[in-house]
Amino acid sequence: MIYKFLKIIIAFLILSCTIIILILYINKDYKTISLKANQNLFKKRIWEINTDSLSEKILSQMSLEEKIDQMYGEKMIESIPKFLGNYLFKNRFAHIYAGKNDRLNIPPWVLSDGPRGARVLDKKNAVTTFPVGMARASSWNVDLEYKVHEVIAKEMRANKTNYAATPCINLLRHPGWGRAQETYGEDPWLLGEFGLAAVKAIEKHNVMACPKHFALNSIENSRWKIDVSVDERTLREVYLPHFKKVIQKGKPASLMSAYNQVRGEYCGSNYELLTKILREDWGFEGFVSTDWIWGIYDAKKAIKAGLNVEMPWQDEYNYNKIKSLIKSGEILISDIDKLVLNTLKTRLKYAFSYDSIDYNDNLILDSSHINLARIAAEESMVLIKNDKILPFKKNGNLKIGVVGKLANIKNTGDRGSSDSRAPYVITPLEGIKDYHRNTKNKVIYNDASNINDAIEVAKNVDQLIIVVGYTYKNEGEFIDSPGYQIGGDRISLKLEENDEKLIQELSKFNKNLVVVYVGGSAIDMNNWQDKVPSILFSWYSGMEGGKALAKILYGDINPSGKLPFSIPKNISDYPYFNPFTDTITYGYYHGYTLFEKFGKEISYPFGFGLSYSKFHYKNLIVSELNISDSTYQISFDIENISKYNGKEVAQLYVGFNESKVDRPVKLLRGFKKISIPSKEIKNVSFKLNINDISWYNPEKKKWEIEKIKYKILVGSSSRNNDLIHSYISLE
Ligand code: BGC
Repeated sequence: MIYKFLKIIIAFLILSCTIIILILYINKDYKTISLKANQNLFKKRIWEINTDSLSEKILSQMSLEEKIDQMYGEKMIESIPKFLGNYLFKNRFAHIYAGKNDRLNIPPWVLSDGPRGARVLDKKNAVTTFPVGMARASSWNVDLEYKVHEVIAKEMRANKTNYAATPCINLLRHPGWGRAQETYGEDPWLLGEFGLAAVKAIEKHNVMACPKHFALNSIENSRWKIDVSVDERTLREVYLPHFKKVIQKGKPASLMSAYNQVRGEYCGSNYELLTKILREDWGFEGFVSTDWIWGIYDAKKAIKAGLNVEMPWQDEYNYNKIKSLIKSGEILISDIDKLVLNTLKTRLKYAFSYDSIDYNDNLILDSSHINLARIAAEESMVLIKNDKILPFKKNGNLKIGVVGKLANIKNTGDRGSSDSRAPYVITPLEGIKDYHRNTKNKVIYNDASNINDAIEVAKNVDQLIIVVGYTYKNEGEFIDSPGYQIGGDRISLKLEENDEKLIQELSKFNKNLVVVYVGGSAIDMNNWQDKVPSILFSWYSGMEGGKALAKILYGDINPSGKLPFSIPKNISDYPYFNPFTDTITYGYYHGYTLFEKFGKEISYPFGFGLSYSKFHYKNLIVSELNISDSTYQISFDIENISKYNGKEVAQLYVGFNESKVDRPVKLLRGFKKISIPSKEIKNVSFKLNINDISWYNPEKKKWEIEKIKYKILVGSSSRNNDLIHSYISLE
């Protein structure tokens, strides 16, 4: 009896202590520590100090322990209670202070996720929440992406973080990928241009950009173990060009290694990727951090491979392990010095940088930021079908039916690391209601929990808006803990059965309808697309999405988004995809290159999206611009032959029909978004450098340019009928 009583007392004490520790840690170090160097310690102004030589000096003064301290985020024992405390009691993402050294006056760096807004997850401190990456890619507007990332970076700084775990530039190989919504689509060129815009904007605000996940991370559920086989050409031409462009042109401070294996080696300890390609071939000078938890499994291999920092906690990169590796001669002190110097040199630049803006809390949710969230939503929605239905009529005592549970929930996408807490989210229903607020029109909502009630609504309204799709439960980062499973890959690309039934049934009773799809990637619409006259991809459209949706449906905004992926007629034509497999081979062809090469029918081509305007392409002229660096100018006219002012995404493709090596039919090599008022003609021009049409010769291990005739195609989508063409001959 006494033992039982003692046990209860002990359990009670342990529980109370744990709660007290957690509570004590809640506010510890959250947003309190400065990330900038202390000006009082220096005679010169800090941004005038040569941080390269300072880093070398600091390194020479460091003990081995201090060096190792630069190689991980925080110590688990200190960090986990802080993390848990903040998460459980304040529902927010605590700051991890990496690399702080008080003795040598080195401030720490702090990571914030952010593919669709700074990841603060603090109820009080909500931030501007944008449409997801895939939506923004559909805008095909890199200037807009730049502005979006300026806002994200500013709000990160205001939240006292200076390291952005964004952009995600993994290639969409198969639309079932759970994290598809975070990235920019299936095409390496599009990915590279968007990634570059994001990185440049982030770095402008002295935030370290960290593109992720390097590399070949395009399956979610098995990301911790999957081993991806890939041949050299596929690697260089398909899965890495966007990383290369972002690294070489954007010069991000950092890069995040992926969890998965490539050719039998985990990415965090993959010498080929981290040293051979990244540093030797591409000249990367920053530091590589692991993806969070289980990013590396073998300290020696990771050190030899060139992995600088283990995140978020010290595990493999611990003192005992590293000391004994040095003692046994398996690694050298110089290996450690090299890694630490990369990190110090890079991050001291930011700690000693000059800020032209005061990044304070008032910046967060500035009205210009919110405005941009709405513009991003407006520019990204893609109208993929419209049989003379949209834009809807605005006036006339209309009855407007809005149907579907997703019309009435705050649905901004994934609840994993790309989550961002908005102060409010305008749902589709709220946006539509608000749009008609001061009119005689009446909005009738039905959540479709009972199909018969939904049918009644359909029968009795003038316009019908059916909202279907997914939430964070169906797709996103895979969180699989006991009793709580969300996100992950989509096994089926179909909508949920209820949604399909809803569309099929309602479309029998009302033909003045639009299906609005909410989600992060392609879907299989074969069971219902022929039954409905119009379909709009609205994506996870951020905090202002509902407002943007209403403006598009009623023609205040002319849709201008284009698909950043292709949807084949037969879904089985996508490459093999298995979220539970341990091994997979990524082939040379996927997306439009696959469908075009093997003559597969495409329902919705890459780059396709309708507008209320009609555009006509003409007068294509190709001329050699600069003989010394082999640049061509491709110019043409686009005429808006409709009564609507509109925006068009002009696309440039290069065709390889005459190639002696196996190559895609064509590849995207440029795009521009242009405003063209009704009845006006705009001249558009692209510059094409011959290096951008080279192929990677794996035998010779170099890029080569074939001396053949290349087809130059410009137009409004990748579909042949939408393109006009000419040639460049290098024969
Ligand atoms: C994700 C990363 C993210 C990191 C930190 C990981 O689970 O894969 O994309 O940056 O968590 O939140």
